[in-house]
Amino acid sequence: MLDVLTQKVHDEARQGEAFAPFINDPAQYKKKFYIESYGCQMNFSDSEIVASILQDVGFGATRDCSEADLILLNTCSIREKAEQTVRKRLTEFRKIKVARPGLLVGVLGCMAERIKAKLLEEEQLVDIVVGPDAYRSLPALLEEAEGGQKAVNVLLSREETYADISPVRLNSNGVSGFVSIMRGCNNMCTFCVVPFTRGRERSRNAFSIIKECQDLFDRGYKEVTLLGQNVDSYYFTPETTDDTGRDTVTFASLLEMVANISPLLRVRFSTSHPKDITDDVLHVIAKYENICNYIHLPVQSGSTRILQMMNRTYTREWYLAKIDRIREIIPGCGISSDIIAGFCTETEEDHQSTLSLMEYSGYDLSYMFFYSERPGTLAQRRYKDDVPEMIKKRRLQEIVDLQNRLSRKSNEKDLGKTFGVLIEGNSKKSDQDWMGRTSHNKVIVFSKTGADCSKGDYVKVKVTDCTKATLLGEIV
Ligand code: 5AD
Ligand code: SF4
Repeated sequence: MLDVLTQKVHDEARQGEAFAPFINDPAQYKKKFYIESYGCQMNFSDSEIVASILQDVGFGATRDCSEADLILLNTCSIREKAEQTVRKRLTEFRKIKVARPGLLVGVLGCMAERIKAKLLEEEQLVDIVVGPDAYRSLPALLEEAEGGQKAVNVLLSREETYADISPVRLNSNGVSGFVSIMRGCNNMCTFCVVPFTRGRERSRNAFSIIKECQDLFDRGYKEVTLLGQNVDSYYFTPETTDDTGRDTVTFASLLEMVANISPLLRVRFSTSHPKDITDDVLHVIAKYENICNYIHLPVQSGSTRILQMMNRTYTREWYLAKIDRIREIIPGCGISSDIIAGFCTETEEDHQSTLSLMEYSGYDLSYMFFYSERPGTLAQRRYKDDVPEMIKKRRLQEIVDLQNRLSRKSNEKDLGKTFGVLIEGNSKKSDQDWMGRTSHNKVIVFSKTGADCSKGDYVKVKVTDCTKATLLGEIV
């Protein structure tokens, strides 16, 4: 059945029109917009949808805010600090607006959803407030705002996936692109504001996902990252009109369909929830050379008691068994995590459990935070944020120090090995060096000398040295 469906999806993808142009010459548009994105990859991906919607009504993207007619901030609410950064930025834009009264300023994304009224009251110079599910109404809101009214739409939707909108690639390296496969989250982790700002989980039409990936590949892209808050619960039922009947597309089958576009298209995905990632997914990763051997599997805490309070729905032991399973089915798989230090009631013993879980898991990389209470979340309503800030920060530092050691150790294990690397561009430090990524998501830097290759090429690189963050190598 999967084969029939895959074929059908591929055929439809080919018949479809080419996706919208990538960033265009702004001079061809009557107006210009400038957009800054904060937070997760999903927000960056949403900004590309917004760019497409704006382009259709005559707005071209600019990278220079001083020449913009419209400034947009696509915001994040996940931690208090993210919101503070945006507020500071709004104050800066306020100064520009005072000097240029015709300029419109809009706030998009999670903060728009969370504090809409407050934004309009306090930040007098915000003209437009649009939540993550309301971007299609931007043109109408712009007209309202141009007429001098405050324009707001923060309605959440159970259906919106922007499936038919072809993103305009902003700030892209032309090699790797992000493709959103679902929106929202139903998990209700108690610390997290996302279910409130991004609404209920819904999966995007598989046909339109494949079409977008195929289009990227046809345009020379070599890597797609499938994005969702919880990709493993992807679930799509096509409305078929022919005799293929009805079948469902799970995340495992979606991965397989994307991998089948071409062996030259690398496939990545983020984020996986430990409770939902299945053996089927692991077997598909193992089966296809072009599905990268890398899984971002946030644990949040190593203590079962804290995990329960976080409503993560797994125990420490269950998580560790998942790590074993990944290593068994995909030997050498890169694994990374998100970790929160100092969640409500966390004791020294709980903290030690997090450290020992990290050791066991041997993460290559982690994103580490101290707990930041978010208004309206279940944790804020149920528990006291009772770990003093100093202790949170000390525990976070211990987590960061341990991760640094683990990352270095993981890199040292790669010394002398040769990996297939996709070249993403010049290294940050020198245009004499290439920067690429291995399948297990490690950044590798190597000299251009003696290597006849370009951005977007696959090459074999032998690791000769490393730091805790980067592998260094030479082309073989
Ligand atoms: N405080 C600190 N970190 C948080 N995260 C989510 N909510 C909070 C919060 N209130 C972290 C989690 C999540 C990542 C995207 O952000 O680790 O996986
Ligand atoms: Fe937030 Fe949990 Fe959903 Fe991730 S899985 S977005 S942490 S509620």
